[in-house]
Amino acid sequence: MDIDRRKYPLPRRRHHGSAYLYVPRSQLRVVPPGYPPVPERLSWSELFANGRPPCALDVGCGEGSFLLRFASQHPEQNILGLEVRRALAEWLAGVIRGEQVPNAAVLWYSVVNGLPFLEDASIARIFYLFPDPWPKKRHHKRRALTPFVLREFARVLRPDGLLYIATDFPALDEYHRQLLDQTGYFQYEEVHDDADWGLPLTDREEACRRNGIPYVRLRCSKRGWAS
Ligand SMILES: C[S@@+](CC[C@H](N)C(=O)[O-])C[C@H]1O[C@@H](n2cnc3c(N)ncnc32)[C@H](O)[C@@H]1O
Repeated sequence: MDIDRRKYPLPRRRHHGSAYLYVPRSQLRVVPPGYPPVPERLSWSELFANGRPPCALDVGCGEGSFLLRFASQHPEQNILGLEVRRALAEWLAGVIRGEQVPNAAVLWYSVVNGLPFLEDASIARIFYLFPDPWPKKRHHKRRALTPFVLREFARVLRPDGLLYIATDFPALDEYHRQLLDQTGYFQYEEVHDDADWGLPLTDREEACRRNGIPYVRLRCSKRGWAS
């Protein structure tokens, strides 16, 4: 489904959140009141109609078009979106409630804290699509994909699970490849063909297509996992 923007006008929101949102909670001396909770457990029956945990994750789901399209294309799969900007996460939760989408949910959360509420080897697919590039060198530390987060992705993915990464920012693509090579949890291939990629479009991807901006898509599979 596509979101009716007249029925659900987007909230006023900042382009980015405050700097502390991109720092793991364990590294903050004082946790500001605007920091999202880091739950050890989630009640799946409060999030999904069938009460089961998710099998897909949309990390940095933003305005949520991908999340909702995926949910309607795969009604048998629960998909959980993670979004650090509170206003956006709450707005999207309202859309999901209003449209009664049974298999989609969104959590106000910063992924730099890992995925403590997910079991090992429980997720079939993780989508990390068009993350914020943070192009300035002094802001690189705000990028969400770190060795720790990549390790968490590898932990929660099933042995045959897949991680999908896309970006239209060449320096970020280079950063992702270096991280994937250095950590060794995943092998990856670049996907050019839409049918081979097989996923609905994201909001940012649609903007890239409208404006003729090229982008890169990587599909990553686990090399094998020993905890
Ligand atoms: C450029 S937008 C892309 C949104 C969507 N995936 C798309 O392709 O249209 C990146 C999103 O990731 C979110 N984000 C950035 N850092 C995050 C973090 N540490 N945890 C969760 N979400 C994050 C941002 O707030 C933003 O909504």
